[in-house]
Amino acid sequence: MAILVSKNIFLLNTLKSSYALGIDENGLLRHLYWGDKIDQIENFELERIHNRSGFHSAADMTMEECSSFGMMRYKETSMKVKFFDGTQDFRYDVKGYVIEGNLLTITLEDIYYPFQVKLFYQVFEEENMINRWREAINLGSEPIVIERFYSAEYGIKGKDFEITNYNGTWCGEFQLHSDNITSGKKVFESLRGLTSHVVNPVFMVHNGAKEDYGNVYYSVLEYSGNFKIVAEATPYDYVNLLIGISDTDFSLVLKPKETFLSPAAYAGYSNGGFGDMSRTLHHFCIAKLMPKATSNQVLKVLYNSWEATQFNVSYKAQMLLAEKAGELGAELFVVDDGWFGKRNNDLSSLGDWQVDLIKFPDGLEPLISHVKQVGMDFGIWIEPEMVNEDSDLFRNHPDWVYRYLNREILTGRNQYMLDLTKEEVVQYIFEAIDKLLVTYSISYIKWDMNRSVGETSNTLMKEGSSVWVAHTRNFYRIIDKLREKHPAVEFEACASGGGRVDYGTMRYFDQYWTSDNTDALDRLEIQRGYSFIYPAKYMRAWVTDSPNWINERSIPVTFRLHCAMAGSLGIGSNLNHMTEEEQAIIREHIELYKRIREIIQFGQLYRLKYYKEDDFHAIQYVKDNKSIVFVYLVQGYFGKDKYFLKLKGLELHQTYLINNDGVTYEKTGAYLMHHGLVLNLKGDYDSKIVQVEEK
Ligand code: DGJ
Repeated sequence: MAILVSKNIFLLNTLKSSYALGIDENGLLRHLYWGDKIDQIENFELERIHNRSGFHSAADMTMEECSSFGMMRYKETSMKVKFFDGTQDFRYDVKGYVIEGNLLTITLEDIYYPFQVKLFYQVFEEENMINRWREAINLGSEPIVIERFYSAEYGIKGKDFEITNYNGTWCGEFQLHSDNITSGKKVFESLRGLTSHVVNPVFMVHNGAKEDYGNVYYSVLEYSGNFKIVAEATPYDYVNLLIGISDTDFSLVLKPKETFLSPAAYAGYSNGGFGDMSRTLHHFCIAKLMPKATSNQVLKVLYNSWEATQFNVSYKAQMLLAEKAGELGAELFVVDDGWFGKRNNDLSSLGDWQVDLIKFPDGLEPLISHVKQVGMDFGIWIEPEMVNEDSDLFRNHPDWVYRYLNREILTGRNQYMLDLTKEEVVQYIFEAIDKLLVTYSISYIKWDMNRSVGETSNTLMKEGSSVWVAHTRNFYRIIDKLREKHPAVEFEACASGGGRVDYGTMRYFDQYWTSDNTDALDRLEIQRGYSFIYPAKYMRAWVTDSPNWINERSIPVTFRLHCAMAGSLGIGSNLNHMTEEEQAIIREHIELYKRIREIIQFGQLYRLKYYKEDDFHAIQYVKDNKSIVFVYLVQGYFGKDKYFLKLKGLELHQTYLINNDGVTYEKTGAYLMHHGLVLNLKGDYDSKIVQVEEK
């Protein structure tokens, strides 16, 4: 049973973990346990707690499920509410609970004001995950202001924990960082209006866990706007953890009878280190979050023209590229920025989503039919939430952007941001994309966002500043509606690379553009960090030209291919400048990729070696009776040319056929996992793919 109840205690069990909470004699909803599985609910008790002196309240001293500001709590609390008369605390009774299948709902109600909070716990038993979210309900006739409303609160007993998140940049996403949670609060927050390249809406809390050992408590927020994570080491021997929408510049007016739903926060616990955590999350994403229409299909090999042509797109040039991409084996041809308005650089035309008839005199149709003739589907880039000052859209609707009336409008990449809290803007964006999809045979949309939100607007202040939430939710609404009307179209989420990689976008998109940085060495690091939380299937990775634009680094094409093949392969090189030899190598690898991509996109991931800590870098995917191993030697020293690599995730007694360096031989799973593969690698940027298959 996933949900057990005994007296005032609730026990939520997945296959591998337990989570317990209970209502104590004072009516306080307390968090009791999170960790390895404990089957017997009878073991749990609510030990008595009491205020210690006039300074330490019982509520502060204990772990809670829904702490609220006030009532002599001084920790970071999970919500803050303000009633019409200025009262600012939430004193609740547990009104009741309901269990429907694997969903537990607990209702808290204020003892005086007509206000309820519902706490939801949905147990995914098989997937080892618990989904948490909340709802605030105004039952009365006066408005109520919500000033903080996290999705979930967690507690972990003990001290000396570390918290891991990212500390990245544009072109440097997913760089993992860990900090001790010693005293006070550790905060991770995005105030950019989107997830950001810097931090990610996730926490991993542990005690020095490594890839294969250690306990990891983790939670991932299904949200793409401003978020906040707080880990607070209390003086009471527990760490309080909160995850949800950021409370910075957040104030939501709940009108009479209105409700507000928080985004979901998924929580998991692993006693097998980060590797087990990642595999659990990847499986969960595919099974529960990805859009159903495409979640069980492999992603196509795409060609994207951005790095090759930048804004300089035209019918002729794109046709030539399409022919070459088709010959190489690409299955999808994506025209990036520059096809619309008068867009010859980043100064103009965002918002004017009409084909540039100078670049494409007969519209997109001739290019699309040509792309199809050479065996590919057609995709296109768009940045729907933006507008340039130099655009017809802005000239016609200067009031459609976020702006303070007495200030100059802030720009980022020379563009303004459309005010998605306005219904007419939402409608405009929907219609613009819908028109493209109706007019042309487009099977793929790359949805970009190239700046952070800079300002909100004056009028909204009167109603409370929930503009950040409204923007995110309307962004979801548009894409949801588009998907409903065009179910066969695939969507890629991009925000100058990985600025919008989160479980919120995962619901609506089929893949992410992971990073604008396509340098294969930097990518090893970015892709490794990404893989902690996100699945390979969503990780678009392109092979581009060498030297790379970002750092002028030259890397052999095979290494670049092996790096990109570890995710959903794409080609972004200028095919006009490529030698015959390079083209042959790419063609051969695309062919191989098509044979093995199912294992990569749907397999279980094992991070075997990390080049910053080990001699070389290696990752392995395992699916059913097959495995693919990617090996990368970044720099070889002292003529060393033999390396050993122990594999994981195989059957001990099974015999496997190994294809290594074109030679096929047999080994047992035990040999491969205990003794290891022998690899011939030498020099700088040597790499290989080893294929392993059950005999
Ligand atoms: C940023 C994206 O990350 C790039 O791939 C490209 O689409 C450009 N925008 C186009 O402006």
